[in-house]
Amino acid sequence: MLTLLSAFLCAESRVVMLSPGEVVSGEFSLVDSVPYYEMRRGRVPVVRPGRMGFLLADGSRLDCGFVIDSVESGTIDERWSPVLGQYDTIRNHCRFYRIALRQPASRRTMTVEFRLYDEGLAFRYIFDNPWNGTTHFRIAEERTEFAMSGAHKAFWLPGNFDSNEYYYTTSRLSDIDATAVDGSGIGTHRVLDPDMVQTPLMMKTRGGLYVSLFEAALDDYSAMHLLLDRQRLSFRVVLSPSPVPGVRAFMQTPCRTPWRTLMVSDRAEDILASSMILNLNDPCRLTDTRWIKPIKYVGVWWEMHIPGGSAWSYADVPSVKIGQTDWTALKPHGRHGATTANVLRYIDFAADNGLDAVLVEGWNVGWEEWSGNWKENVFDFVTPYPDFDIDSVTSYARSRGVELIMHHETSGSATNYERRMTEAFDLMERYGYKSLKTGYVGWPIPRGETHDGQWMVNHYNRVVREAAERHIMVNAHEPVRPTGLSRTYPNLLACEAARGNEFNAWSKGNPPEHETILPFTRLLGGGMDYTPGIFEIKMSHYQEGNPCQVHTTLAKQLALYVTMYSPIQMAADLPENYLRRMDAFQFIRDVECDWTDTRILEAEPGDYITVARRGKRSGDWFIGAITDERGRKARIDLSFLDPGCFYVATVYADAPDADWKDNPMAYEIRQYIVDRRTKFRQRLAPGGGCAISLRRATLDDLSRIKDKL
Ligand code: NOJ
Ligand code: CA
Repeated sequence: MLTLLSAFLCAESRVVMLSPGEVVSGEFSLVDSVPYYEMRRGRVPVVRPGRMGFLLADGSRLDCGFVIDSVESGTIDERWSPVLGQYDTIRNHCRFYRIALRQPASRRTMTVEFRLYDEGLAFRYIFDNPWNGTTHFRIAEERTEFAMSGAHKAFWLPGNFDSNEYYYTTSRLSDIDATAVDGSGIGTHRVLDPDMVQTPLMMKTRGGLYVSLFEAALDDYSAMHLLLDRQRLSFRVVLSPSPVPGVRAFMQTPCRTPWRTLMVSDRAEDILASSMILNLNDPCRLTDTRWIKPIKYVGVWWEMHIPGGSAWSYADVPSVKIGQTDWTALKPHGRHGATTANVLRYIDFAADNGLDAVLVEGWNVGWEEWSGNWKENVFDFVTPYPDFDIDSVTSYARSRGVELIMHHETSGSATNYERRMTEAFDLMERYGYKSLKTGYVGWPIPRGETHDGQWMVNHYNRVVREAAERHIMVNAHEPVRPTGLSRTYPNLLACEAARGNEFNAWSKGNPPEHETILPFTRLLGGGMDYTPGIFEIKMSHYQEGNPCQVHTTLAKQLALYVTMYSPIQMAADLPENYLRRMDAFQFIRDVECDWTDTRILEAEPGDYITVARRGKRSGDWFIGAITDERGRKARIDLSFLDPGCFYVATVYADAPDADWKDNPMAYEIRQYIVDRRTKFRQRLAPGGGCAISLRRATLDDLSRIKDKL
């Protein structure tokens, strides 16, 4: 519902704005014709006055010389249901203010639209058509500022327009040094600027406010980075560059920028529970969404990441040229993972355990020299290696009721992918593939573009749109960070776009606090294919003396299925590692990844998260509790359970002597009868976690299980 409260000609140069519950307020003002905004929560300043506007590539300024032409305001109060998600319905409740500005000297116009929620403020810039007699312009700089109210504690990633696969550093804003971060293991690591960090940026003020700075609905624009002015504790937007010197975004009217978003609450839990980023995206544009489904999968994948594991490639040859190699004439090196026999083994494991799908990486030719060389034509996405019999693999999968997930690693060559995408999707259709994992390892092609720049943003979005036309679900790795586009295109199931579990296999890994920060940052924009569920924690299991390991306990790997939202979840470890621990694997079999309800029971960024979610398929509840390197007792209150019902709680916990470093695989499983009056403290080991499934108890359960919590 949209109610217009007022539309008036405005002689004032100040607009005061309020959220529906009057929790958050904002003020827009022109000071000597320069636009500024500020934001408060109650009486507490969250953002001090900061500038708005642009510098254009032709040298003209769009950040001063303005008058207010009109102000329009009103309320949006609507409910919508995500196709896949964390809630069955979401309320979008905010006040909007559209402030039409004009530069009398240039006759240019620009509208700034604000939305005020009780949990935050967002704004974007809108340009009408025609614009100053033309339909295009080029942005040299976005001058938006975020003037923070103090030297907050911040959880940040170093600025890099080509990778978000860093671990988080926690420091005061004034102590940020982005050049101090270790980028080993990141192919596109670059040291850019000590003062530049990425979004989403999570902060905590000395007064206990949680503040998230991010963007929503990024499309046809460059992703936003932040440059810190240390003296003023103020960030300025840095748009990811294009290859054209002096141009960061190419605008064609009518157009609008993404939303600049500031979420705020005195409870960390509210940040995780908020749907503000999704709400700022356009409603679903697909008319038929019945083909979009949650997916639990295994894959020929971890075996390529572990030390001494199998290979994506087929032969030991230095370099091949796509389309000019006779693959059957090459001598296989014998370590190829995606062989027919091996894939059938995974299909059997998936079918035997009720998993939906199998991902096969390395099925297609081109992996011999695929990464790091900035080559344009590496993969054709349609030619299987000689030892991968696509006909028999797909028909066997069909006979066992399992889907196959297509893999398109582009090695960053988006041009090559765009040229071959239709044929690649045709092959998927022919063989019945319904979902797709893409990858963008390496420097992008067109050369000079960045992963986060406007051209690549449009590429990722184009893939999602074309995939939607073909009824294909997408899971993108190494794309720009998602900003809620899955509301508009729910076939975008998830992205990686952060440091995933894979880094634990071959780098110094993800510190135990990593998974307590991601939901406060990266996951605000959409589901993450983190690939949890590693049971064999230490890589020395595969290679004597190998120092790499997953930096969690086994029980915490289970908890991640609940704390780390994604409608596509992998059981990432090898089948043989699960077969040795089927009692713990039962949780992965049972857990769902599409939910009707979510309760954030407790959370503190960098320290711990405890979440309960209700599965859409069964109505059962699942709980995940995780901690950082410190052990703790999670507070679990089951008052969300249905009244008058008893449930069986199966608790997958760290054993008393477990800890992530020295004894990560020690777990214990217990069953209890519980109801909505049950409250308890659950011990989590250092780097540990706990997963709980809750299903309605039968009479038999009640007589069998005597333990109460
Ligand atoms: C990086 C992806 O994140 C990973 O999952 C994949 O296995 C490799 N690229 C190869 O495509
Ligand atoms: Ca990756």
